[in-house]
Amino acid sequence: MSDTSLATVPGRLQASQVCAHRGASGQYPENTQAAFDAAARFGAGWIETDVQQLADGELVVFHDEVLGRTAGGEGDIREMAWAAVAALDVGSWKGPEFAGERPIRPNALMAWQAAAPGRPTIIWEIKCEDGDPTSAQRIAGALAAEIAAHPGHRCVISSFNREALIAIRTLLPGMPAALIVEALPSDAISFCREHGLEGLHLDGHQLNAASAQQVLSAGLALRCYTINTVAEAERLLSLGVEVIMSDFPERFLAVAS
Ligand code: G3P
Ligand code: CA
Repeated sequence: MSDTSLATVPGRLQASQVCAHRGASGQYPENTQAAFDAAARFGAGWIETDVQQLADGELVVFHDEVLGRTAGGEGDIREMAWAAVAALDVGSWKGPEFAGERPIRPNALMAWQAAAPGRPTIIWEIKCEDGDPTSAQRIAGALAAEIAAHPGHRCVISSFNREALIAIRTLLPGMPAALIVEALPSDAISFCREHGLEGLHLDGHQLNAASAQQVLSAGLALRCYTINTVAEAERLLSLGVEVIMSDFPERFLAVAS
């Protein structure tokens, strides 16, 4: 089946199998309220989003370490304070109709989830520098505090950064947490077991039957990024992947875009 069939085969996947990557970021500016609202409208059961910590300790939903791609200006966002970040325009790069879209903080997204029944479960991705345990613990502590302040919040906390995950497990032992990797490294499953993680998030394009089987046999949830075609989604689902993260969740769901 060709990828052009995506738009004409509505209802292909269940909501619980589809995660809007950075929100519905194919059509909307990534990691903005517009992208998250669209994901919910499209019927995605999940959204994935990136969290960075700013110089003043505030958290912000933002993917890149530096300005320039999704926001004007230059420099490391982690060296800025919230007052300046809050004024950034993170919509115009995607199209003039999104001009004035502002960065949001995780607590706003937690409140958004709680504000209406059935809003997507959130996959938080903690972004922080490898080899800097202090900043990993600092951002994990800040995110854990936000989550603890929102009882009933539905989420999985994920990161490439193992120190951040270890910190989260200590702070929020009951909250599902997942290690993000590209291809499956030989020590990933033992790391997940040792630290009580519930899942592994892999680059779907690098997942094969053998690595999928290893993850599933270990009793771990298997979720994959970033999948935008029906052919690749079907391949992954046949390997036992339970959630695909896509920039175009609308391609896989029954709700018209
Ligand atoms: O959460 C998995 C995926 O989002 C990791 O890659 O670069 O899109 O944040 P990236
Ligand atoms: Ca991410």
